[in-house]
Amino acid sequence: MQQSTSSLRQSLRKQRQALSKSTREHFDYSIQQTLLNSGVLLRFSSIAGYLSNNGEPSIHSLIQTCSDINRPFYLPVLKKKSLAFASYTKGNELTNNAFNIPEPSNQRTLAAKFLSVILVPLVGFDHQGNRLGMGGGFYDHALNFMLNPACTKRPLLIGIAYSLQKVDSINRYAWDIPLDAVITEEGLSTFSVKARQLLRP
Ligand SMILES: Nc1ncnc2c1ncn2[C@@H]1O[C@H](COP(=O)(O)OP(=O)(O)O)[C@@H](O)[C@H]1O
Ligand SMILES: [Mg+2]
Repeated sequence: MQQSTSSLRQSLRKQRQALSKSTREHFDYSIQQTLLNSGVLLRFSSIAGYLSNNGEPSIHSLIQTCSDINRPFYLPVLKKKSLAFASYTKGNELTNNAFNIPEPSNQRTLAAKFLSVILVPLVGFDHQGNRLGMGGGFYDHALNFMLNPACTKRPLLIGIAYSLQKVDSINRYAWDIPLDAVITEEGLSTFSVKARQLLRP
């Protein structure tokens, strides 16, 4: 019998939280090495990411590197059921949002369509790039414009995860926006032509 989506979310989140500190550090290091080696900093001018929460992989070194080289970096800011993106440099003031997740206090935001790449946290993913989030549909709402067939310019979506978050298959609903690629401690997986053209394994 297929596991219900909410129990799948619960079990994946529990497994992610159960990683030991040393394993997590080791995995986070590999993920960030793959991210840097993928050429993401060379090919994309505006990168959005996230501050890890609930056991999500840390991309702290990438954020530090962006700050060090003055590369624009953005963090998500909650806007009702959706997300917009505010510029963030290491040391900028943060304020907790309604989910107790820190976001830039500077609320001057950009819509997702103006970014060239978004590093997306996730609860689960499959071999086709389908994404299971925390269940709020926040990224789906923010990226909804990509469902318009007339949309030509859109950010590359790279999921950031541990390999334990990979599952056989995730149902894709009409509103779900799939990922172009996923990076785990095991390396890069690409799901779209664009990702294969732009990212180095
Ligand atoms: N673009 C959208 N328009 C309307 N409703 C949406 C949209 N995107 C997501 N939703 C709603 O958000 C809810 C959560 O989305 P879901 O894909 O299950 O969560 P997540 O992506 O966080 O795993 C769904 O019940 C869906 O109805
Ligand atoms: Mg979804």
